Amino acid sequence: MKTIAILASGNGTNAENIARAIQKKKVKASLALIFSNKRDAKVLDRAKKLNVPYVSFEVKDFESREAYESQLIKLLQAEKVDVIVLAGYMLLVGDAFIQAFKNRILNIHPSLLPAFKGTHAIQEAYDYGVRVSGVTVHFVEPALDSGPIILQKEVPLRDGESVQDFESRIHKVEYELYPKALQLVVSDKCSVRGRKVIIKK
Ligand code: GAR
Repeated sequence: MKTIAILASGNGTNAENIARAIQKKKVKASLALIFSNKRDAKVLDRAKKLNVPYVSFEVKDFESREAYESQLIKLLQAEKVDVIVLAGYMLLVGDAFIQAFKNRILNIHPSLLPAFKGTHAIQEAYDYGVRVSGVTVHFVEPALDSGPIILQKEVPLRDGESVQDFESRIHKVEYELYPKALQLVVSDKCSVRGRKVIIKK
């Protein structure tokens, strides 16, 4: 069975949802730890409540971003982590990190990539006037919100819908899609060829 770690910077609803999916054996993996680069992140309270080990340190604790990441790589390697789940981890992942865990880092993004990359995807899609947005789970590459796509699901905007309602429906789809994509990865059903992810039936 594969060992995973979840990295999150904020609220952590996706982290909690994945931890629960593992506890219910909907995702067949073992969860080594939840890490946050923010000591006061709500995700750490969620980890406590779920009885999941957690660790936190911040970039500002180190001399450089590289030193921070090298500590994080050491931590994940010491825990023998196979797959890393970014769940609202709002830092760009560096080259050394990606090399250390090539095609073993997943990210979730609340839009149909490559549209609306960045930190305000839902608001930006809403303001743009899209009829359809959605959710993407993808492998991580050095560039922001890029990398081969594992799963996507569309969320159509309803007539007259508020951005808050649109956002909460997008989050619901995230809670469905991320465990599904993770289960495909931890059961070795995904292989990456160029930009394409081939999923074994
Ligand atoms: C999620 O909607 C996730 O897709 C998004 O941050 C939110 C974190 O919520 N990630 C990005 O925008 C990545 N570019 P959560 O902390 O409650 O899981």
